[in-house]
Amino acid sequence: MKITMIGTGYVGLVSGTCFAHWGNDVICVDKNAAKIAGLNQGILPIYEPELDGLVSKYHQAGRLSFTCDLAAAVKDADIVFIAVGTPARAGHGDADLSFVYMAAKEIAPHLAEGAVVVVKSTVPVGTGDAVDKIIGSVRRRGSYSVASNPEFLREGAAIPDFLKPDRVVIGVEDMHAQTVLMQLYRDVFAPHDVPVVVTRRRTSELIKYAANAFLATKITFMNELADLCELAGSDISDLALGIGLDRRIGSCFLNAGPGYGGSCFPKDTLALLRTAQDYGVALRVVEETVTANEARKRKMALKVLDAVGGDVDGLTIAVLGLTFKPDTDDMREAPSVPLIETLQRFGATIRAFDPVGMPNAAQMLDDVALIDDPYECARNADAVVIVTEWDCIRRLDLTRLRKRMNAPVLVDLRNAVSQESAEAAGFRITMIGKPTRNHKETQPVLQGRGARGRLHTGNDEKAGTAGRSRL
Ligand code: UDX
Repeated sequence: MKITMIGTGYVGLVSGTCFAHWGNDVICVDKNAAKIAGLNQGILPIYEPELDGLVSKYHQAGRLSFTCDLAAAVKDADIVFIAVGTPARAGHGDADLSFVYMAAKEIAPHLAEGAVVVVKSTVPVGTGDAVDKIIGSVRRRGSYSVASNPEFLREGAAIPDFLKPDRVVIGVEDMHAQTVLMQLYRDVFAPHDVPVVVTRRRTSELIKYAANAFLATKITFMNELADLCELAGSDISDLALGIGLDRRIGSCFLNAGPGYGGSCFPKDTLALLRTAQDYGVALRVVEETVTANEARKRKMALKVLDAVGGDVDGLTIAVLGLTFKPDTDDMREAPSVPLIETLQRFGATIRAFDPVGMPNAAQMLDDVALIDDPYECARNADAVVIVTEWDCIRRLDLTRLRKRMNAPVLVDLRNAVSQESAEAAGFRITMIGKPTRNHKETQPVLQGRGARGRLHTGNDEKAGTAGRSRL
């Protein structure tokens, strides 16, 4: 099929490339001429594992092209996806839909007869109706369709998430749109038996927000339980294991940390609350999730203060990991930013390392020495704080790290390293959701190996690593 993708950000570029991977002819459109010029030279505007290989493969095969010429890109398209940004409006929380509406207005006069316009951007309930109205103001009803097809891509895992999704959600108001979209996704259904949810447009729009809000709530639930674990002498990793094996709960998204960030959970939870307010409905669980998450990010600085004895004034703190999660260069709403700013306000000097995110971090942080080697970053530091659980940080040689430092203080906000290894390397380690020191003596010592949870399945047992839930 001939597909046009309006927008070449995280969603548009990944989706367009994957549609080309399935054999479609895809034209990606963006107003940003520099971005389009870069893409035509194989320079990607975002970091996403595997994306550059696929983009160059299908660009060279002539199935994936990039242009600023929207009219030319739309005129022969069977499907036109709108995948532009819907940022939170500053100070309001609701989604800024101006880019979506602008795209609808610009494509309307150029649509081919029978074209299906699909909103892939994350948009509040009813946006599809508004897009339909915009296009309907210049085109005959029945000569086009407007549908919703939200994405559920995680940054850092966007390609596998797109090519083998848990499900496809299609929101349609006419059979033509349903037929065309079912044909587009047939390559996913058959080989990977992916379920397809076909519903109305407004339900499809709300499914996206509900999914993100639920995931944000699940994470926040674990983050708050982690605080209880620390004082109650329990272990959050074992707790995650113990509840996650319940199929009704599931073992994903049970990793307690410094609070969720990224371009979606913070934005989408706020936008959902605004939608609820518009309809006079109180989503109290989501409200508390938003409040608790913001508070948690600030609270992490106090964890560092506690670990160094109460005062960081004049100390050097090395922060390992800046991006909001591993395998992305994205710094949006990253917990590292409020943490660093608070520690600086308390008088700390900050050095920081991130394998990919430092160019973006440099735009957001002041007076931070960005160092491209974690051991060098820790040189003469009075404490090291792990904020993002990159693999290269999980695998650090802790003895070598300790030798570079002034003091043996390690604060691991992701439980990324093993407590035993850190203590063997001479660190006093503070983790998330682990019994604080004065509970150690009450914790029963499991036979043989450490105090980590053990999974006994039949007559074999798996070591404590099972305590870390899968993301
Ligand atoms: C999310 C949704 O997962 C995805 O389906 C949607 O399309 C976009 O938003 P993303 O924001 O890229 O994806 O990352 P995700 O992996 O969901 O992590 C979001 C935040 O939650 C990160 O800050 C991450 O560190 C945090 N997180 C995630 C936890 O703290 N604990 C977990 O167990 C999982």
